Amino acid sequence: MTQAAPDYVRNTKLKAWVTEVAALTQPDQIVWCDGSQEEYDRLCNLLVDAGKMIRLNPAKRPNSFLACSDPSDVARVEDRTYICSANKEDAGPNNNWEDPAKMKDKLTGLFKGSMRGRTMYVIPFSMGPIGSPIAHIGVEISDSAYVAINMRIMTRMGRAVIDQLGSDGHFVPCLHSIGAPLEAGQQDVRWPCNPTKYIVHFPETREIWSYGSGYGGNALLGKKCFALRIASTMARDEGWLAEHMLILGVESPEGEKNYVAAAFPSACGKTNFAMLIPPKSFDGWKITTVGDDIAWIKPGPDGRLYAINPEAGYFGVAPGTSEKTNFNAMATLQENVIFTNVALTDDGDVWWEGMTKQAPAHLIDWQGQDWTPEIAASSGRKAAHPNARFTAPANQCPSIDKDWENPAGVPISAFIFGGRRSTTVPLVYEAFNWNFGVYMAATLGSETTAAATGEMGVIRRDPFAMLPFCGYHMGDYFKHWLHMGRNDKVKELPHVFTVNWFRQNDNGEFIWPGFGDNMRVLKWIVERVKGRAAAKETALGWMPRFEDIDWTDFSGMTREQFEELTRIDNAAWQAELALHAEWFEKLKSRLPRELPLMCELLEQTLAE
Ligand code: GTP
Ligand code: SPV
Ligand code: MN
Repeated sequence: MTQAAPDYVRNTKLKAWVTEVAALTQPDQIVWCDGSQEEYDRLCNLLVDAGKMIRLNPAKRPNSFLACSDPSDVARVEDRTYICSANKEDAGPNNNWEDPAKMKDKLTGLFKGSMRGRTMYVIPFSMGPIGSPIAHIGVEISDSAYVAINMRIMTRMGRAVIDQLGSDGHFVPCLHSIGAPLEAGQQDVRWPCNPTKYIVHFPETREIWSYGSGYGGNALLGKKCFALRIASTMARDEGWLAEHMLILGVESPEGEKNYVAAAFPSACGKTNFAMLIPPKSFDGWKITTVGDDIAWIKPGPDGRLYAINPEAGYFGVAPGTSEKTNFNAMATLQENVIFTNVALTDDGDVWWEGMTKQAPAHLIDWQGQDWTPEIAASSGRKAAHPNARFTAPANQCPSIDKDWENPAGVPISAFIFGGRRSTTVPLVYEAFNWNFGVYMAATLGSETTAAATGEMGVIRRDPFAMLPFCGYHMGDYFKHWLHMGRNDKVKELPHVFTVNWFRQNDNGEFIWPGFGDNMRVLKWIVERVKGRAAAKETALGWMPRFEDIDWTDFSGMTREQFEELTRIDNAAWQAELALHAEWFEKLKSRLPRELPLMCELLEQTLAE
């Protein structure tokens, strides 16, 4: 079986780990990924020949593919995700926990022989530009070629990472198996996976073991597992932040440039906001994209907070993405893309709900069945899965920021937190100070989406949009954020804002047009930071009045509608605060004292 490591691999720990894993999982062969185009093409062809991917029509979508997953494996599995810290209390009530030794025993049992009949890929990757002082290296071992090709887009992957590791460089071992060994003569299926799933993190030893799923954040281990769950514990220990945030640049007609970082829960608008195109009336304003999902943030030499995007690609939500809602994303998707769980058109291209106003007359849906608008109308069946995604290289995005790979990062002027709330939460407000901002983020609520398995549309607390991604006790995480506000390395704190694009009227329609028009809110935010925009004081924070927003060429919002959109409903907020208190009660053992006090303060202010 085993192939020796190529000569260029000198890292003794890595070689020993690969040998150990191969002995446990018993693959047919080992492939060390070099990250080359030839290798990528070879793996894509292999998947196409095996019937696991479809090559899209090259005239329509060059070098692009469609993969469709098993219906049981379509999103992150939060209930199967574990933080196995030595002490249960360190994982917190926000995480599932198991004793690390017990969990390793269990997983070792599952991984035993789990790659039989399959190829084991060794996938070296760097989160952040290779060799930069802010980057961290991981190596994923996976028995999925689909994972290997996705990792090549999402990270800096291949031989250059091995060279950077040298003989004794440090890497985070990320072990992944779909858990579907093939016995001799057994026919493979289109999307092999296992009904038993475990997405497991060992924060103290900085290790990841993922079993049973081939999809997204469950399987592309550089993303949520490493860059958020493991990195958040590294960040706590080392005095920085690893966040579920997009990073964008705002350039004014005068050439003033500001960067903001924004945390919205999964499928709540980060990719869209990161690639925003301002309305026509914002002549000379420009938005540039640094990242759409993850930010690593550190104090810089001048005392400001600097953010980098550790990823190299976008794993973005397809449904709802169109030339109208996100032109830059559509432009990014013209070639070299892997689509997962979208529909196939009769001319070999892709389609999803919301891509065009009118659906094609006939499609093959993501489950391989005939689909027509009539079938959809009568059965309610979607052509694309609601969590269908695209994997696309970041450098294909027309709005990519010139500093997106700058190892020094970009200086952040504002943090924005937003959830999906059909009621209660106003369009935008600014926290009175850092601690209030932390309070707002710590109590962020949002309706659940298709990005994770489980019920949709249920309001839950999703603090900092990090509930599924924080690798330790949420109370300690809040403490870490509060400390950032009085860290002597931080001389200039970003202002903190809350937004909600999703408030609805009595007919269940969004009141706010969203997308490009979010620029009107973003402009107010930047002007607030610069001390140039007015606001009124409310119980929640500083809020724009109708006249404080730039409505040029926009007739879609009357003063009355704006009042409705920004209204603070006292009864609704009293109920909301009761939920905050309930949430804090869960975290009580490690909750910073400031937070429940601020809850009380808010309650009293609202009652006045
Ligand atoms: P993850 O990749 O899961 O972390 O998600 P994300 O936060 O990047 O979400 P994304 O930008 O892909 O948006 C998800 C869905 O929200 C899409 O269907 C969008 O069309 C929709 N959406 C994004 N921005 C807006 C907005 O301003 N208003 C409304 N109504 N919908 C929006
Ligand atoms: C999310 O769910 O927040 C995502 C997609 O960005 S996944 O990579 O699957 O986690
Ligand atoms: Mn995300």
